[in-house]
Amino acid sequence: MSRIAYVNGQYVPMARACVHVEDRGFQFADGVYEVWAVLDGRLVEWAGHARRLERSLGELSMPPAMSQRALQVVLRETIRRNRVRNGLVYIQVTRGTFPRDHAFPPADTPQTVVATAKRIDVAAIEARAAKGVGVVTTPENRWGRCDIKTVGLLANAMAKQKARGAGAFEAWFVDDLGLVTEGSSTNAWIVDADGRLRTRDTNCNILRGITRHSLIDVARGAGMDVAEQPFSVDDAKQAREAFVTSASAFVMPITSVDGARVGNGKPGPVAQRLRSLYLDHARATAV
Ligand code: PDD
Repeated sequence: MSRIAYVNGQYVPMARACVHVEDRGFQFADGVYEVWAVLDGRLVEWAGHARRLERSLGELSMPPAMSQRALQVVLRETIRRNRVRNGLVYIQVTRGTFPRDHAFPPADTPQTVVATAKRIDVAAIEARAAKGVGVVTTPENRWGRCDIKTVGLLANAMAKQKARGAGAFEAWFVDDLGLVTEGSSTNAWIVDADGRLRTRDTNCNILRGITRHSLIDVARGAGMDVAEQPFSVDDAKQAREAFVTSASAFVMPITSVDGARVGNGKPGPVAQRLRSLYLDHARATAV
């Protein structure tokens, strides 16, 4: 079955889905994106991602691409046409096409809006989560507005490639103080020696992960102690457990950091419990 993309109001086979060479997304990474998990054909964390999309656009002085109701229709139709039951749906919005010039084009330049969907192999992800994965660390080298979910992901892509080259699942960015900021496409967490959950606060330069945000509530609701407090690479190596969160990985246990075993080198009970609690929450609130 050929995959279908939504491009500026039309659903077209992937092979014919095109944007202009002078699209500002291509020329300047002048655009934003958002990603929802799809479980049992439904959108996970619909409102959180929709709100963040509007915020990202606003931070770049772009209006909402369409109403939230229209956005949901487009995402659902993209999911349906690609027959995705479990997977991911993406939207990208750029400042549109205009003869190349760094300064913004006129405000009435039509935005470019693209949506795509893909299936994920739930069994393969479950198997990975049951085994746990490794992370490597890499110096933080991104711009100062990582709170905006822009398509400017080169530093993230290079970090992920470093992880893949080392046989790891993810790369954690580490700031000048030796503190972990976040992963290349995930937020980073540990369970420290006192049994407290720790993840970096959002006043620093990280993406305000929707999964991270919900998981804080889920964990507190289950009586766990959560601190939005930085941790160092050494803290992570000495932690009882570590894990990452994102729309695509949900809660993924980390079993090694730069080759050093975390805990006993197996997914920990807290991460496993949180994965299960989060998936229950995600399914219960999906629309
Ligand atoms: N990545 N940090 C970064 C840099 C991310 O790109 C992501 C999301 C996250 C987790 O955010 P959320 O829980 O809202 O998915 C943190 C998505 C999944 C992606 O780029 O595919």
